[in-house]
Amino acid sequence: MNYPVWEVPLLGGGMLIGIIAIVHVFIAHFAVGGGMFLPLTELKAYREKDPRILDYVKRHTLFFVLLTLVTGAVSGVGIWWTIGLVHPSATRTLLLVFVWVWATEWVMFFTEITAALVYYYGWNRLSPKTHLTVGWIYFASAWLSLFLINGILCFMLTPGKWLESRSLFHAFFNPTMLPSLFLRTLIAVALAGIFALFTATQLQPDDLREKMVKWAGKWLILPGLLMPLGLVWYLAVVPESARRLALGGAAPVLTVFVTLSLVMSVLIFAFSYLGAFKLPKAFSQPFAMLIMALAFLTTGMTEWVREAIRKPFVVYGYMFSNSIRAEEVRNAKDQSILVRAKWTTVPHVTHDNWRQSGRELFRLQCASCHTVDGYNGIRPLIYGWDESMIDSALQRLHKLRGFMPPFVGTEAERKALAKWLAEIAKAEAYNQFQ
Ligand code: HEC
Repeated sequence: MNYPVWEVPLLGGGMLIGIIAIVHVFIAHFAVGGGMFLPLTELKAYREKDPRILDYVKRHTLFFVLLTLVTGAVSGVGIWWTIGLVHPSATRTLLLVFVWVWATEWVMFFTEITAALVYYYGWNRLSPKTHLTVGWIYFASAWLSLFLINGILCFMLTPGKWLESRSLFHAFFNPTMLPSLFLRTLIAVALAGIFALFTATQLQPDDLREKMVKWAGKWLILPGLLMPLGLVWYLAVVPESARRLALGGAAPVLTVFVTLSLVMSVLIFAFSYLGAFKLPKAFSQPFAMLIMALAFLTTGMTEWVREAIRKPFVVYGYMFSNSIRAEEVRNAKDQSILVRAKWTTVPHVTHDNWRQSGRELFRLQCASCHTVDGYNGIRPLIYGWDESMIDSALQRLHKLRGFMPPFVGTEAERKALAKWLAEIAKAEAYNQFQ
């Protein structure tokens, strides 16, 4: 309640973060896996004494550097901008808890970019041995970046012992950190193969193309075999409520997403094994693009589900999605929220400001998940509900749907919100009021 609330019309803040983050995550994982693909393929060229493979890696490097450094860096900065604006309190928490982890991460990121550029410009300039070493430095720093960010991301769903100890060690080495690192590393390797399928299918149709397609397809075999293991491990350690949300059907969209991403993962691995690895000659570029599109959709859906199952929290057990801390709910649930909020135009509810108060309370407590008419819009959800029905829902929001936080505030505040909601539920009054 210490920051202004930025309401993103129609999309909602969460959706905005989601769109940018999914693009970023897709590229960032490729940045890690590709970092392993480059030096290993270079090594393959030296071992097989095949300068054509070396030529291919050089071209793949340009594609890699352009995509990861430009799009990856721009979308990464985009994430900072949006999370800072949409979730200032949660961003602040992550910064404060992980100061040194962030600092190390930025050193890794700097090393990563420098090494990638030296690797690219070092072709034909550095000795093969030095060039390979630069490639490995790139990969090591990219994977360490993943290691660090993964710990922070996992903290949000499973802060574990940190909730009591407040120690950085517990925050970072939290319950989902290892299974998630395992899964993300596999995803990175698989994406390296998928992107390589794309560049390999651009080669002239000869034995080199066949060899490189087969080589790229090989990169998907191990991830395909190990991923189910990682998934089971991960699901075993997420909180019960999160598992129920993902698998139990309480939120049908999420369960559909989980099923779809499982089906698509099986297709990706089957296509790449049977197509690229077994029949490399017949494997075409549109097919590579289809696999890439499936991988993008799967990444989007799984990241979406991972974010959604944390509801009603932004940091599980510590802070709700609307920035109200669990502790505030325990200690001051019935005290005025308008008085506590630092950025509000309405200091308290009076007899004739219920409209402004209601709107403001919606902004403070509901707008992190609901828009008015857009994504997860409140108006269609309560269409036709009357004031007393809404008021009774407000008294048990967290029981009505387990993924909503409880309403916090005085009775007068609750009534003002109920009245405002009842008004927009039945009329177009909202538009006039805007
Ligand atoms: C953590 C996110 C979150 C917050 C915060 C939140 N909601 Fe929700 N709410 C949801 C989701 C998700 C749904 C389910 C939408 C659906 O079923 O399509 C929902 C559904 C609802 C419903 C329909 C319930 C039903 O059973 O049909 C109402 C009413 C509602 N929200 C009111 C509110 C109000 C009022 C606030 C603010 C005081 C609020 N919500 C805050 C996530 C949230």
